[in-house]
Amino acid sequence: LLLLLLLLIIEITLTEGSKIFATWKNPPPPVYMEFFIFNVTNPDKFLKGEAKPHLTTMGPYTYREYRPKHNVSFVHNGTKVAAYTAKIFVFEPEKSVGDPNVDLVTTVNIPAVAVMNRIKGAGFWVSSGISMYMGSIGTTMFMTHTVQELLWGFKDPLLSRLKTIRPDTDEYFGLMLHKNSSDDGEFVYHTGEQNYLDFGRIYTWKGEKMMSFWKSNQSNMINGTDGSGFHPFLSKEERLNVFTPDLCRSIHMRFEKEVELKGIPAYRFTPPRDVLASGKNNPENEGFCVTPKKCLDDGVLDVSVCRKGAPVVMSFPHFHLGDEKYAKAIDGISPVHEHHQTFLDLNPTMGVPVRAMKRAQINIHLERVTGFPLTRNLNSTIFPILFLNESVVIDDASAARIQKLLLIVTLVSHFPLILVALGVILLLVSIILAIRFYQNKVIATTQNTLATASNHPEHPSNRLKNGTYIGMMPVDKS
Ligand SMILES: *[C@@H]1O[C@H](CO)[C@@H](O)[C@H](O)[C@H]1NC(C)=O
Ligand SMILES: *[C@@H]1O[C@H](CO)[C@@H](O)[C@H](O)[C@H]1NC(C)=O
Ligand SMILES: *[C@@H]1O[C@H](CO)[C@@H](O)[C@H](O)[C@H]1NC(C)=O
Ligand SMILES: *[C@@H]1O[C@H](CO)[C@@H](O)[C@H](O)[C@H]1NC(C)=O
Ligand SMILES: *[C@@H]1O[C@H](CO)[C@@H](O)[C@H](O)[C@H]1NC(C)=O
Ligand SMILES: *[C@@H]1O[C@H](CO)[C@@H](O)[C@H](O)[C@H]1NC(C)=O
Ligand SMILES: *[C@@H]1O[C@H](CO)[C@@H](O)[C@H](O)[C@H]1NC(C)=O
Ligand SMILES: *[C@@H]1O[C@H](CO)[C@@H](O)[C@H](O)[C@H]1NC(C)=O
Repeated sequence: LLLLLLLLIIEITLTEGSKIFATWKNPPPPVYMEFFIFNVTNPDKFLKGEAKPHLTTMGPYTYREYRPKHNVSFVHNGTKVAAYTAKIFVFEPEKSVGDPNVDLVTTVNIPAVAVMNRIKGAGFWVSSGISMYMGSIGTTMFMTHTVQELLWGFKDPLLSRLKTIRPDTDEYFGLMLHKNSSDDGEFVYHTGEQNYLDFGRIYTWKGEKMMSFWKSNQSNMINGTDGSGFHPFLSKEERLNVFTPDLCRSIHMRFEKEVELKGIPAYRFTPPRDVLASGKNNPENEGFCVTPKKCLDDGVLDVSVCRKGAPVVMSFPHFHLGDEKYAKAIDGISPVHEHHQTFLDLNPTMGVPVRAMKRAQINIHLERVTGFPLTRNLNSTIFPILFLNESVVIDDASAARIQKLLLIVTLVSHFPLILVALGVILLLVSIILAIRFYQNKVIATTQNTLATASNHPEHPSNRLKNGTYIGMMPVDKS
């Protein structure tokens, strides 16, 4: 029994030969990344301060993601494994609403806002110089580009100009620029060999056990796994930690409900409200507000510290789990839990995801910047640019394999019961056999008796016996 359990645990650790290792290294189920982009229909009115921005959603633009791991090496005597995960995005026209090379979207001129944000403290003359230059090349607060350009990059005239002054500037801008076929740096994971509870837990990211973007050690901690797997034997009370490099932070999830997919039972874990709560509502998050006095409210995370100063704010789509003022400030935004939550459906016995949906929204913090007349009438706004849904559903082959393993686990965990059941069955069978045997004997005896009785009609028990066995013994009563 112990041996079988041990075998199961070995199956679940990341070791060179294990099945889990092969699927971990090159995950078979298809991952889809869907982008839903917000188009502004009243940019001029908004800039004049006359109306709330009105947004319409365009999407999905879907990309199939391939995530092979490379440079995989076991370290620390096989207790840890180091790897890089490259993400390759391939456009899926059938799952998309249109051609990203054709469809035009109007949105915030993010490079311009980033430039303004970066030189905010540089003094009046610098601001005025840049502002005049922006005026001369016709930079506005909103830009119109194709979906392809917005995502994968275009050459921006303002950034090109800046590059002549500061050569380290990238003249291209795109929300997913350089993300195709690139990785998030080296991860070192625990293999779970020492302790199965450590399976998949991140040991270091880019060689560090902690980040340094945020203000507190608690915020800088790299907690949990990368979300692609968890330790076996999960409980409903557990707080599951996941580190996401896109957010530059760890988040946690809580049990929501039981679900089932492809015949596999699963627990749905989802981030609770306190994950993105502001520091005043959740002291654990105090470290995520890097500039005091400019702390944001619930449901949004300013990630400019890890985006080279660009005023990027992450949230759940439609400001789900956020302060309602953010959604109220924009027309066309209304959060719905089922449509906008992030969740992981995990088989509790194995700790493997059977379905995952990671949903996030990228926003830009717009506000008045002194020295830039373009921003004169702006109210401070968290302006949504797009939201994404990165989803995966277990493939049929893996589902079948997991079902088989679950069956083994069920058998193993019910092994004593099965033994007892077998014993009971054996006992019943032998009792039945014994009864049959006894009855046959009785019948045989009765037949003899009857036979004898018919020979001696005066036998005192004759009438009784005859009556009792009348149905069973078709003895000719002559
Ligand atoms: C996007 O908004 C612009 C106006 O800002 C409008 O002309 C265009 O038709 C919109 N596109 C879509 C796809 O809604
Ligand atoms: C901008 O903010 C001011 C003061 O908070 C408010 O009165 C005004 O209605 C806001 N404008 C818009 C367009 O939301
Ligand atoms: C991966 O390994 C190859 C050789 O096997 C090496 O040339 C390359 O630099 C490694 N990449 C990283 C990111 O370490
Ligand atoms: C690896 O194992 C050897 C001997 O078992 C031990 O001396 C060494 O300290 C271990 N190294 C690490 C990094 O754990
Ligand atoms: C990403 O790169 C792959 C191969 O390098 C290519 O096939 C694919 O079209 C690229 N995707 C995008 C969105 O450019
Ligand atoms: C953060 O951790 C480092 C080392 O891990 C320690 O030296 C430092 O005092 C800690 N800072 C705070 C604010 O706790
Ligand atoms: C990381 O985990 C520790 C201990 O469980 C917790 O105190 C801390 O808040 C977590 N950090 C994040 C960013 O989730
Ligand atoms: C991802 O989420 C969006 C928004 O709720 C939804 O429209 C879309 O169907 C989801 N994608 C999948 C594959 O479920």
